[in-house]
Amino acid sequence: MNYYIITGTSRGVGKALAESLLEQETNFVIGVSRNCTLTHPRYRHQPLDFSDIAGVEHNLHKVFLPFEDAQRLVLVNNAGVVGEIGYMGQSQNEHFEFVFDVNVIVPAMFMNLFLQSYQHKTNCEKMILNISSGAGKSPKDGWAAYCASKAALDMLSQTAQVEQEKLGTGVRIYSVAPGVIDTDMQEQIRGAHPGQFSSLQYFKDLKANGQLASPEAAAAKLVQLMENPALAKGVVCSVRDF
Ligand SMILES: NC(=O)c1ccc[n+]([C@@H]2O[C@H](COP(=O)([O-])OP(=O)(O)OC[C@H]3O[C@@H](n4cnc5c(N)ncnc54)[C@H](OP(=O)(O)O)[C@@H]3O)[C@@H](O)[C@H]2O)c1
Repeated sequence: MNYYIITGTSRGVGKALAESLLEQETNFVIGVSRNCTLTHPRYRHQPLDFSDIAGVEHNLHKVFLPFEDAQRLVLVNNAGVVGEIGYMGQSQNEHFEFVFDVNVIVPAMFMNLFLQSYQHKTNCEKMILNISSGAGKSPKDGWAAYCASKAALDMLSQTAQVEQEKLGTGVRIYSVAPGVIDTDMQEQIRGAHPGQFSSLQYFKDLKANGQLASPEAAAAKLVQLMENPALAKGVVCSVRDF
């Protein structure tokens, strides 16, 4: 059996990815998010709120089970939040902690436990896919915490990949920008205050002109990368590369 541990499976890209993988009888999905919206005989849900670090610490062992018959193990750190859109100097301090907990701290904990829990499984293909963003490569006003969190995710991925190469484990790690996708996150972005986000009209136009990818199309690209990692131009990559 192939086991996919995917965060943020209740909606958006994560849900589309889980549904696509579940079409194959040899795939089992473990989904993690606050809400559960999927039922399938090969789907197991672990409710967790990533803004509650103590709660995550306490329940993490329920996610990384032994999976004795695993031939392939994949962790997809997909859950993410853009947080409140607004300039630094006009934001609540709690905002930075919230965005970093969900987008960086919990994904780092998941990576750590994934690598630790399955290090003895030497005959099993292992991969970590962190869902990043173009926002981690260039600044966007109003998105300081989001941009910084995705940059951190990129560097976590690169460093962890160097380490796995030094250890000779064969684990592959990618930090992939999934494109601009028609999800709740984009709806929230379009609801930003114009004075706090100069790209607002650009994102409104993407929606109005039908230029947003569907979650299903984004999920198909991620499956393509899992099936053929040679498509990636490096650890930090984009679906636009293939
Ligand atoms: N949409 C885009 O255009 C775009 C562009 C670039 C990158 N991305 C990245 O792609 C990934 C998926 O985004 P999306 O557009 O699919 O987002 P979305 O539709 O807003 O879905 C976000 C997912 O994350 C989960 N999540 C949010 N807060 C959480 C929390 N506190 N604890 C646990 N889970 C939480 C949500 O589940 P619950 O609410 O049930 O907890 C949901 O399943 C994100 O990492 C995002 O940064 C998206």
